[in-house]
Amino acid sequence: MQDLVYTTENHTSHVLIGESIQNLSKYAPLNRSVIITDHSVHSIYNNQFPDRPCFILGEGEHNKTLSSVSRIYDWFIGNEIDRSHFVIGIGGGIVCDVTGFAASTFMRGLPFGFVSTTLLSQVDASVGGKNGVNYSGYKNMVGTFNQPEFVICDRNMLASLSDAEYTNGLAEIFKHALISDRTMYDNIKANIAKLLNRDSEFLNYVITRSIEIKSDIVSKDEKEKGLRRLLNFGHTLAHAIEKTITISHGKAVGIGIIFASKVSAELELITQKEAEEIEFICNELQIVSEIKVDNSSIKEALHKDKKKSDNTIHYVLLRNIGDAFTEQISYEKLEDYIDALCKYC
Ligand SMILES: NC(=O)c1ccc[n+]([C@@H]2O[C@H](COP(=O)([O-])OP(=O)(O)OC[C@H]3O[C@@H](n4cnc5c(N)ncnc54)[C@H](O)[C@@H]3O)[C@@H](O)[C@H]2O)c1
Ligand SMILES: [Zn+2]
Repeated sequence: MQDLVYTTENHTSHVLIGESIQNLSKYAPLNRSVIITDHSVHSIYNNQFPDRPCFILGEGEHNKTLSSVSRIYDWFIGNEIDRSHFVIGIGGGIVCDVTGFAASTFMRGLPFGFVSTTLLSQVDASVGGKNGVNYSGYKNMVGTFNQPEFVICDRNMLASLSDAEYTNGLAEIFKHALISDRTMYDNIKANIAKLLNRDSEFLNYVITRSIEIKSDIVSKDEKEKGLRRLLNFGHTLAHAIEKTITISHGKAVGIGIIFASKVSAELELITQKEAEEIEFICNELQIVSEIKVDNSSIKEALHKDKKKSDNTIHYVLLRNIGDAFTEQISYEKLEDYIDALCKYC
């Protein structure tokens, strides 16, 4: 087990990589804790949960809302929860986001921690202190920056993940390698079969590196004023695609990664051969799929991106494999690139 500590302006958090849910009592005051989870995680793992009151959230993005949070507040009140209590979220990114938001806002903030049960939430969602819910059709539009006390990443719990959910995590892992670790990229390239077969040693390596990369960025820029934007690599196009068609997040990110790499090659930052290799690896990792959507819908969706300021966007490019940076580019330019380079749309 590895205890990775990251510090932000006001907080120190522990990410416990390879820790077991069975050891929750080491990190949370169980006699004053309540649990938030979802139906699937509850049905598979509730025999490993501590015997504490448990709120079971519905699954899917349509449950990541203020009305779910409001039901949790009512449940807190019914259970006489106050600031002396501790809230534990056990689940994937949706449970972690809703738990972090409800705990951060109820009575101006209760301490909280996560048992992160999907690959995506272990390497991404549960680390970094962004706790958001969707609002009026906009993803993560309402939220807080507030760090968890701890995140338990129990690898054993990943065994029950569907291939589709597992793949969503792989896309974020590959993103982390591309933005800041050339060696990790080379290792992924050489060990694709191990990743697809969920080889526990290699998985441990990529999960650990991902968490190190993300927590390092978050420690330096908790509130996304600059550096943290690098984590959006591949996500500008991915979010536009997700707004336009039904597609898994991982596959949308895969398409976004390929596109951003091609733009980087077009600007002669990386070579065409490197962009082709990135595309090849995305295909091997099964984080892309053929989609049928017209460019005009994608472009329309792009404009709804909440990160837009004026008519430009902070777009993440590769200076090299393992070295990303952001460049402010106009939407018009990005749209030109979509027309020229995006073979999926
Ligand atoms: N806060 C952040 O910084 C951040 C970063 C990335 C993503 N996110 C958010 O995370 C969410 C996506 O998270 P996700 O991909 O974990 O999805 P999710 O939470 O919807 O979980 C996916 C599905 O897997 C099931 N599941 C969870 N753990 C399981 C297990 N161990 N075995 C079997 N099934 C299991 C869940 O019940 C659910 O049906 C999105 O809402 C996204 O916005 C947040
Ligand atoms: Zn993502």
